[in-house]
Amino acid sequence: MTVKAFRATLLSMRADPCKGLAAEALVHHPDGLLVVENGYVAAVGAYADLASGLAKDVEIEALPGRIITPGFVDAHIHYPQVGVMAAWGSQLLDWLNHHTFPAERAFADRAHADAAAAFFLDQLLHHGTTTALVFCTVHKTSVEALFEAALARGMRLVAGKVLMDRGAPVDLLDTVEGGRTDTEALIRAYRGRGRLGYAITPRFAVTSSDAQLQMAGVVAAAHPEVMVHTHLSENLQEIETVRALFPGDRDYLAVYQRHGLVGPRSVFAHCVHSSADELKRLAAAGAAIAYCPSSNLLLGSGLFDFDAACRAAAAVALGTDVGGGGSFSLLHMMGEAYKVGQLRGRVLDPLQAFYLATLGGAKALKLDDRIGSLEVGKEADVLVLDPAATPLLARRTSAMTSPAELLFALSILGDDRVVERTYIAGRQFRHYDGLDKTKPPAVSDRGLR
Ligand code: GUN
Ligand code: ZN
Repeated sequence: MTVKAFRATLLSMRADPCKGLAAEALVHHPDGLLVVENGYVAAVGAYADLASGLAKDVEIEALPGRIITPGFVDAHIHYPQVGVMAAWGSQLLDWLNHHTFPAERAFADRAHADAAAAFFLDQLLHHGTTTALVFCTVHKTSVEALFEAALARGMRLVAGKVLMDRGAPVDLLDTVEGGRTDTEALIRAYRGRGRLGYAITPRFAVTSSDAQLQMAGVVAAAHPEVMVHTHLSENLQEIETVRALFPGDRDYLAVYQRHGLVGPRSVFAHCVHSSADELKRLAAAGAAIAYCPSSNLLLGSGLFDFDAACRAAAAVALGTDVGGGGSFSLLHMMGEAYKVGQLRGRVLDPLQAFYLATLGGAKALKLDDRIGSLEVGKEADVLVLDPAATPLLARRTSAMTSPAELLFALSILGDDRVVERTYIAGRQFRHYDGLDKTKPPAVSDRGLR
């Protein structure tokens, strides 16, 4: 049995501040103790309450000035788009045609996909993201490459093959039958392996025929453990295109609803322009929104109305949407979401932002029984943050005692430099040279989900 104990400040969310008082949703132990046993959280609380109960041979590592948090959850990201980050000058549909589709072509090649997957996952971990919901490309091999790289790192990851049978360059299209065969083969091949989950991934209504969306709904219904992951109402031109392609549907969400793609295991990226009625229907179905503020700003898509989503009681999480987004850092996304709030005349509470980046993401991915907070029995995907990682941060945070104030400073002034250590199921990821290879991950798996 491997037991590790860490003494530091502990910060974690236990509930959605949207639904009540932010301060009560926070778990804060200024002098805390986190005990990790065989990859799971075995104890969490005040050092003064727990230390004396530890077995004599358990060494406590003191981490003065450090904060331990749950690993971040990125609820929407594209691994094949690292090479198009920071593309200048276009909005969604042009950006897809001129930057994204050409980059995605290269993922037909397994060696290219393997190298990209390894780089991508190491970037996630380096930035403190321990779980993500990931778009691959239309190529089956792109999913295999990512899943194999995630298995090697012991990461909890959900991903899927892009379905797109129209509206993109011909060499990037699949067919209804081809999409179904590949999707089912991938679900079969990776079910129950490591900590992986599958997401049925129609790119968006613009690039799937009615027949393909219908097939996606049928496959989702046949596999209740898998997720559904797509884009929704990101950009005004996109919405007009969907209106023209599906004139019989009352709105964009209705297209997905008609095919059984809107349920409790669905995650919709963006929803920047979703109507109050769409948000209400989305919430009633138990689906979640991946809010991607950096991408929405860089692609000029618009300002997500977080208040409206809260009013509709829709579940919201944060996504980087790399490569539309300009950073892998969920801390940075928390800061970007704050700035979008300012532009809408609404100040986002730092604890709300922290919830979106951790437990909110876990809930959106239906993984909150396993990850997203520091709770006994959860998997020990945890971070050690250094609030004095840079001279500027050290100067600005030295006198801060309130968690909200501190988290806000980290979200505005911090990024990957703040993430001192990342643990996956209790094993430390070694920045830039991969995992400590001494042992396979302790957390095994209870099935593909
Ligand atoms: N909508 C359809 N495909 C994409 C994509 O790759 N990125 C973003 N941001 N939106 C999309
Ligand atoms: Zn996206």
